[in-house]
Amino acid sequence: MSNSLLFSEPQVRVADLRRHVGEEVTIKGWLYNARSSGKILFPQVRDGSGIVQCVVVKNAVRPEVWEALDHLGQESSLIVRGRVREDARAPGGYELDVTDAEVVQAATGYPITPKEHGVEFLLDHRHLWIRSRRQHAILRVRHTVVRAVRDFLDGEGFILCDAPILTPAACEGTTTLFEVNYFEDEKAYLTQSGQLYNEATAAAFGRVYCFGPTFRAEKSKTRRHLTEFWMVEPEMAYATIDDVMELSERFLTAIVARVLDERREELKILERDTSKLERIAPPFPRLHYDEAVRLLQQGHENGALATRFEWGGDFGAPDETYISQLFDRPVMVHRFPAAVKAFYMARDPERPELALGVDVLAPEGYGEIIGGGERATSLEFLEEQIRAHELPREAFEWYLDLRRYGSVPHAGFGMGIERCVAWLCGVEHVRETIPFPRMLYRLRP
Ligand code: 4AD
Ligand code: MG
Repeated sequence: MSNSLLFSEPQVRVADLRRHVGEEVTIKGWLYNARSSGKILFPQVRDGSGIVQCVVVKNAVRPEVWEALDHLGQESSLIVRGRVREDARAPGGYELDVTDAEVVQAATGYPITPKEHGVEFLLDHRHLWIRSRRQHAILRVRHTVVRAVRDFLDGEGFILCDAPILTPAACEGTTTLFEVNYFEDEKAYLTQSGQLYNEATAAAFGRVYCFGPTFRAEKSKTRRHLTEFWMVEPEMAYATIDDVMELSERFLTAIVARVLDERREELKILERDTSKLERIAPPFPRLHYDEAVRLLQQGHENGALATRFEWGGDFGAPDETYISQLFDRPVMVHRFPAAVKAFYMARDPERPELALGVDVLAPEGYGEIIGGGERATSLEFLEEQIRAHELPREAFEWYLDLRRYGSVPHAGFGMGIERCVAWLCGVEHVRETIPFPRMLYRLRP
């Protein structure tokens, strides 16, 4: 392959064709699709940055080139050289009049064809599925979301301080912990959240974030749950639940604006109704838990919800969907009953049975995308909570130090990248929003 003629030529990427109109360029990619009409072939070549339709006229190329391209299998790798022509009718706006080409590897029997495949089949072929136009578009939106997240937090003076993945104890309840052997007889757990470490780094740097993979042994098969997902978690010292709501609002608005700005093409491929995203701007509605319960009970009375929601419970997917559909932007539900929230949550001083936590529900029924709140500051209170939640005290000794040495009100949140991307792309299931999804009983490819 390396001694081929075209391989050593400089490569122009499909996304950059607009700067080469009238020039002869070399595109290195894969055969996405092909049509032929006797003496003309129309191979569509994708190179990862885009897809360009090529025109190969039998008489205009060497006989070997025609031979190689005629009946070439889908996803064969190939290099084409040709002249760039602007064509408003062409997908992408440009076509390539081919003067020369070379097949790098001729593929036959590519398993994903333009016909409909079942999702299990596609997931088993995820390593190839990501080459398809729709999957490609979703993952490019994900890329932009990640960039937007980092740029926003960096711009606000947050310091990236990543948390460990192997941890000695739970953060978000013991029922979803993945256990691993850590040398001789020690156990470790895959992190559920970097938050506890964020609290330490926030006391060192003031404003921090961690951004990495997190793990939950979720035994439920839903369209919102992965067992491995990416979470970005900002944490602020000298901050309250109100600061968390204010930050969430500006954070999500910035991400949506960036995606609308940079990924119009992809959102079009995904047939996303962008008018719904254009509406996203502060202020977001803030709903006290009591008020949310009242709305849910109304929803039951008017027949929209099958069961009556009782005060004290955590929301299920139908409850979140119902609430989110009452508003045209993300809704922030705050002050849940402490009994359904994590051990570290600060309490509402006016009503100690409530936690100073907030869940941000995405519009259009995409569910909770952000969870966060204010952290408890008192050593005695946390000692008691660790006991009540039956957490191993010894593993939390370092965490308690943060309340011994300069404890201050502090607060933060975590946003699941996949749920955010699912909402922005308008895709049903989070499994399409991460390159290689991990879910209940799925560890392949
Ligand atoms: O609400 P959660 O559990 O909050 C925390 O972990 C806090 N310690 C974060 C913090 O305050 N620093 O999770 C936060 C977000 C959820 O809102 C959701 O977007 C996502 O993480 N998430 C999941 N995404 C995909 N699959 C799962 N199984 C998820 N569990 C949570
Ligand atoms: Mg949550």
